[in-house]
Amino acid sequence: MANNTSVSPISPISPVMATYGRFPVTLVKGKGSYVWDDQGIKYLDFTSGIATCNLGHVPDVVKAKLEEQLQSLWHCSNLYHIPNQQELAGLLTENSCGAQVFFCNSGAEANEAAIKLARRYAQKIKGTDSFEVVTFQQSFHGRTLATLSATGQEKIQQGFAPLVKGFSYFPFNDIDALNQLDVIKPAAVLLELVQGEGGVIPADTEWVKKLAAICEEKDILLMVDEIQTGIGRTGSLFAYQQYGIEPDVISIAKGLGSGFPIGAIIAKEKAAKAFEPGTHGSTFGGNPLATAAGVATISHIVESDLLNQVNEISIYLDQQLEQLKEKYTFIKNIRGKGLLKGLVMDTDVLNIVKKAIEKQLLILTAGPNVVRILPPLTVTKEEINEFILKLEETFQSIEKGE
Ligand SMILES: Cc1ncc(COP(=O)(O)O)c(C=O)c1O
Repeated sequence: MANNTSVSPISPISPVMATYGRFPVTLVKGKGSYVWDDQGIKYLDFTSGIATCNLGHVPDVVKAKLEEQLQSLWHCSNLYHIPNQQELAGLLTENSCGAQVFFCNSGAEANEAAIKLARRYAQKIKGTDSFEVVTFQQSFHGRTLATLSATGQEKIQQGFAPLVKGFSYFPFNDIDALNQLDVIKPAAVLLELVQGEGGVIPADTEWVKKLAAICEEKDILLMVDEIQTGIGRTGSLFAYQQYGIEPDVISIAKGLGSGFPIGAIIAKEKAAKAFEPGTHGSTFGGNPLATAAGVATISHIVESDLLNQVNEISIYLDQQLEQLKEKYTFIKNIRGKGLLKGLVMDTDVLNIVKKAIEKQLLILTAGPNVVRILPPLTVTKEEINEFILKLEETFQSIEKGE
């Protein structure tokens, strides 16, 4: 078939499957906190590709490292040593409580690896027949069969029965419910420290500490899904570092490659040794290009003053949002950590996101009633002022019923 008949601009059927409800915008360029569409219209991007472009769009440090790697080797299999992989694993373990890293390509794959590691740890290291992983209501852990089964939201699971067995969904932030851990005796617990997709809900410190203490006492692996909260998003490299705990497994992706696809789990030695040669793998996982992006991203974050800046600027963002809340009664609450913020609304949030696009502002929803705000970690005060102005214009046009 000739090329021009396969993709017709007037065809009602797109050649891309309809797994996403897309906004009517085609983005073709990005730099820092801004993106441009195919008509040349500039948007302030407070989504960061859903917590992925944490250093802003096309950051110079990552671009330079990728360009250098493009000249030498794009891909080789994991049957050989890959220097960028070694370097990135070193950076991640030096800057976390973990000892070893497994590389993959996405968040869902990172959680798949964590779930597999938990089962092998329970069965091969502890010598039990345990396989259960406790997760939490409203959680989100990915779209593969195992990770959607781990996810505590029915809407993500509908139509995919039978689910992968071995998940129990506990109520989030509920101290009393933790007593049930002794009954289930799971292999692991998997949690987000701020539930992102579920509505930007931070975990309570006291609850997390109690959970960590039970896991330690019962030798249950404590696994944190830092796919959205990691890579500086909440003001520390990983969110767990603000909770006074040391997880056994940390899953990461999104911001790790600044937009280049890469995922990973970082595990403490006791858990990591459950994976031996032949037990898990990925063709692309940790390939030279992906890990070049990771090395440039993580070295920049740990060597620069960026995390201090995130902590300062997020206080400024909070103050500005609080002022908005006083003005607009449909903002019920502001929650989140660092530069992962949610505005709990009693009005249609999808409409807000759509109207914001008309004001050249990109923001997100998180569940039915939360507007999610994810500026890049490099955001400036001036850009936050611009954001507040555009958000106010959006609110005003909604109030006027436009
Ligand atoms: C907390 C969390 N876990 C897992 C995932 C899945 O990541 P990916 O889309 O890269 O598979 C996401 C994605 O939004 C996430 O926010």
